[in-house]
Amino acid sequence: MEFSMKLTQEEKDILNGKQGPVMAKILKTLVWYGEIYGAKKLVPITHEGHLVTSMGIGLMKPVFRTMDEIINEGITSKWKFSVDPRPIDYKNVKCNLLNKLIFSKIMYSQQKHYEQQLEKVGLINKDAFTCACYLPQTGNIPKYGDILSWAESSAVVFANSVYGARCNRNSGMIDLFGCIIGKVPEFGLLLDENRKANWVIEIKTSKIPEAQILGSAIGIKVQDGVPFIKGLDKFIGEKLDENTMAYLKDMGAASASNGAVGLYHIENLTPEAKKYGNKIINKDAKTFIIDDKVLEETYKNYPILWKNENAKPKLCFIGCPHLSLEQLNSWTEKLVENLKTNGKNKLSVRTILTTSPSVKKAFEQTENYKKLIKTGAKLSSICPLMYTNNPIAGKQPILTCSNKLRTYSSARYKTDAEIIDIITGKENI
Ligand code: F3S
Repeated sequence: MEFSMKLTQEEKDILNGKQGPVMAKILKTLVWYGEIYGAKKLVPITHEGHLVTSMGIGLMKPVFRTMDEIINEGITSKWKFSVDPRPIDYKNVKCNLLNKLIFSKIMYSQQKHYEQQLEKVGLINKDAFTCACYLPQTGNIPKYGDILSWAESSAVVFANSVYGARCNRNSGMIDLFGCIIGKVPEFGLLLDENRKANWVIEIKTSKIPEAQILGSAIGIKVQDGVPFIKGLDKFIGEKLDENTMAYLKDMGAASASNGAVGLYHIENLTPEAKKYGNKIINKDAKTFIIDDKVLEETYKNYPILWKNENAKPKLCFIGCPHLSLEQLNSWTEKLVENLKTNGKNKLSVRTILTTSPSVKKAFEQTENYKKLIKTGAKLSSICPLMYTNNPIAGKQPILTCSNKLRTYSSARYKTDAEIIDIITGKENI
């Protein structure tokens, strides 16, 4: 086999079958993948993995076959991994009979089987199903400079930008293959030169921008560029505390889904911006100014995909990406307070807040959990997109404050404040 990538003797041996035919195929796939992007070598991973493929969709037969081949050969991953959220939670996200039939017999018929496969290959634990794997309760937190094999776009952009780790936006199965071999091809955001900003974003708004709309405006403009954001620290501070991290989680997910941002820097805040300052900006970087008008226009341009624009929302999803503990507390307080102000006891729209299984467990121990449940809201660890993305569930008028969910489904985006007003009965849509 001829490859243009420079390979070590150990890698050549694996490719020649010294560790069996399955390991040879896995490494060959990684090498080919790297060569497409011009990688010159493979580099070792230095931290746990995160897989994007969490759903046992019956149609993904090649994935289940590949997993069986790996398991039958007795292969386990060198680096254990967390996985994106589960697609179903019949207890907290109730479905009608038809929906349940579609989910269990057609769409996610292989869920149980696939989860068993993941456990055999290297799943961290049964609670490791979340896109926000880097929250402290789940604990898949990379260090500065760590090399990762992750794929979930919202997690990759967070790890690169907020922790200063190094990871490309890989695809499903490539993330797993990297964890098994313990190496990834070196290209893209693993290299210093590609971590330099080719856009300068100047924030000139009159107040703190809505994280989800700011991320969207940035993503739409820079696409897969690397933005250096100036003027945001004025609103969110210069410390990476829980609130700031939650803001960046939501902003980054919107930039990664409305565009294809894998890394951003924020002046005076994120590690590489702090370390290198303006030196991390390319000389020919373009500038984009974001003011109130740009944010307003961005929001106004979102298409409404509901069949009837004036329909009463049937369902509302809050938490894509999964909410942090701090966000759960803050949502609960706002919902309780606004219900009281509006003279209501219960939310007027079926509302699901989503978070990681380990954050859910921690939140369930608090007084706020009881308060949240009393409002009629439910707490789940599913991925709202996987729930929404089918012909039956997708036909419902669904509300969300997630720009990622809006982008990939027919759910309608509203800001956090608007969502609160609608679901606590202050105003109609
Ligand atoms: Fe997470 Fe699913 Fe949203 S993976 S970012 S909850 S689409």
